[in-house]
Amino acid sequence: MNLKFKRHTVTAALPYANGPVHIGHLAGCYLPADIYVRYLRSKGEDVKFICGSDEHGVPITIKAKKEGITPQQVVDKYHKMMGDAFKEFGVSFDIYSRTSSKTHHETASEFFKKLYDKKVFIEEVTEQYFDEKANQFLADRYIVGTCPKCGNENAYGDQCEKCGSTLNATDLINPKSTLSGEKPVLRNTKNWFLPLDKMQPQIEAYIDSHKEWKSNVHGQCKSWLNAGLQPRAMTRDLDWGVKVPVEGAEGKVLYVWFDAPIGYISATKELFENQEASIKNQEGERGEKVTTKSGVIPEWEKYWKDKETKLVHFIGKDNIVFHCIIFPAMLMAEGSYILPENVPANEFLNLEGDKISTSRNWAVWLHEYLLEFKDKQDVLRYTLCANAPETKDNDFTWKDFQAKNNNELVAILGNFINRTLVLTHKYYDGKVPVAAEYTKNDILLLEEISKFPSRIAASIEQYRFREALSELMNLARMGNKYLADNEPWILIKTDEKRVQTIMNLSLQISANLAVLMEPFLPFTSVKLSNMLNLNSGLKWNDATRTDLLLAGHQINTAGLLFEKVEDETIIAQVQKLEDSKKMNEESNIASVEPSKAETSFDDFSKMDIRTGTILEAERVPKTDKLLKLLIDTGIDKRTVVSGIAGYYKPEEIIGQQVCILVNLAPRKIKGIESQGMILMAENNKGELSFVAPTKENMNNGGAVK
Ligand code: MF3
Ligand code: ZN
Repeated sequence: MNLKFKRHTVTAALPYANGPVHIGHLAGCYLPADIYVRYLRSKGEDVKFICGSDEHGVPITIKAKKEGITPQQVVDKYHKMMGDAFKEFGVSFDIYSRTSSKTHHETASEFFKKLYDKKVFIEEVTEQYFDEKANQFLADRYIVGTCPKCGNENAYGDQCEKCGSTLNATDLINPKSTLSGEKPVLRNTKNWFLPLDKMQPQIEAYIDSHKEWKSNVHGQCKSWLNAGLQPRAMTRDLDWGVKVPVEGAEGKVLYVWFDAPIGYISATKELFENQEASIKNQEGERGEKVTTKSGVIPEWEKYWKDKETKLVHFIGKDNIVFHCIIFPAMLMAEGSYILPENVPANEFLNLEGDKISTSRNWAVWLHEYLLEFKDKQDVLRYTLCANAPETKDNDFTWKDFQAKNNNELVAILGNFINRTLVLTHKYYDGKVPVAAEYTKNDILLLEEISKFPSRIAASIEQYRFREALSELMNLARMGNKYLADNEPWILIKTDEKRVQTIMNLSLQISANLAVLMEPFLPFTSVKLSNMLNLNSGLKWNDATRTDLLLAGHQINTAGLLFEKVEDETIIAQVQKLEDSKKMNEESNIASVEPSKAETSFDDFSKMDIRTGTILEAERVPKTDKLLKLLIDTGIDKRTVVSGIAGYYKPEEIIGQQVCILVNLAPRKIKGIESQGMILMAENNKGELSFVAPTKENMNNGGAVK
């Protein structure tokens, strides 16, 4: 399937530089992208793997405000942290750049200017939300409100994370500024819009030409197209970002989703600039000319403009519309670029049954994992790949991490390699024995082994990394079974010749495993290759061979590939998560809802609230929450159904004085007519308490005002 293409440009979503990397990021995008790229390299393909930090946009400025530092300080901190963590985890980017770089600002600026000059944009003065208290326009994450599509009350100005819709801030119901909590006002401002509505036919044709995309991706695209694309502003009234490079745009920057994907292009440019600079340095002394000759396409352009390049974007599902519709529309409008060939987006990974959240500190942070699990990168890579949320959201649990390590990596892969190497040392001083004569079963096995490279490759090329990994483990399982069936440790006493063949074959399987595991478990692959004293530079297709280790080849000492993860380790990690949940709940207690919109005394006095006493209380059958109460209101005795069963037992509250809204229109609840409402106070955990007079001599029917 790759034959059509001469080279590959593979990108992984540029993460916002507003927090460290966690396992959700890894499973969603960086790990599958890395596996894919390592595989392509092993196939000998020409590939560039591009990533960097997304340093603009509202998430960065919000973080800066929260920490009381500048946006630049925020991105400097997290850019370094993320870059280091990716590297140590073995994510093998060819470049990890950042969108604050000079090259990026120039590239994004030029891109915008080109569309501007081609008169692609609609220049329009529209009303946008403005926060009068904070004295600034509110875009994207500066504004929250109710999603008009699904009713989620915490949708952002650019996107609803619940239903995945892209929104414009003005679509939100009950918009609220995240800066001041205030209801924003509308103010006129000029912006430049990409006319996605007019481009719909082109975009539709493009999406329709990619029915092979993952169904979650294709499905989301179709649903946007069916809803009808809307023009989208590509500029914002903000001061953090790439300045809009046209006249009359002072105080405006490019929309972060305009500049960020161009970051892939800028980073590719930088990659080649760096390479040319280093060649120049080497050759400069000899005075040779190494600059690109005019008339020759610069190297980077081949990776973005040549039809024989396959462009693939790895992302998480919240990025689908931007990579499948908006960025392609930008590229189409520009005119000289190729379009993404595939956008394999993953769903989300949860943690211990709960949504991963940076702000709630509910996450396993990569930099912490790397410290606490030294040299165990591959265990996390394995667990995350085996559990990747490829077709639906999935859950990471520490128990499962332990099980995957102990029952699969240690018990299957590690065990097979260890038995093979230890026996080779014991019987043959670490020299590969000659395979004497193959049995019928051996020949079948050899045939089976040689099929693995293409089988695993097919899964990887279809972005089915879980399936690919499980095939890899099947090869190790096969090896284990071969040893168990043939029992060389028993045969050695009776049939030395046969044992030579068994061990030779087991060693060949080990060598094949070393090659095929590389994309998934690169650290283990190096370890194993060293133990086997394997020729470095073996490629994927070499693993179709069953003679990678020649007779007489000396192997090195055997070490353990994996160690058991003990219960204590897992208990400590679960405890750490629970502690952070607790701390988070405590800090939540301090936070309260902002106040509601102003109201008049007149409106307030329409409420007829009285003191009353509970005379009778019983549970409403077949419900968890409801109590049926008989209340003496001073005016009358009436029935009220109240949702307090979770907080009060019926027998405890007889005689309790309460406040009751008596002129609320009666309502049927579970077949009972409820004639009023008891006033309750609610804390941050949602727990309820009666609101009652604090003096004894307050008669029923007294006004609460
Ligand atoms: N920063 C975005 C996120 O974390 C992803 C940007 S991807 C790019 O969701 F295409 F814009 F670079
Ligand atoms: Zn929604």
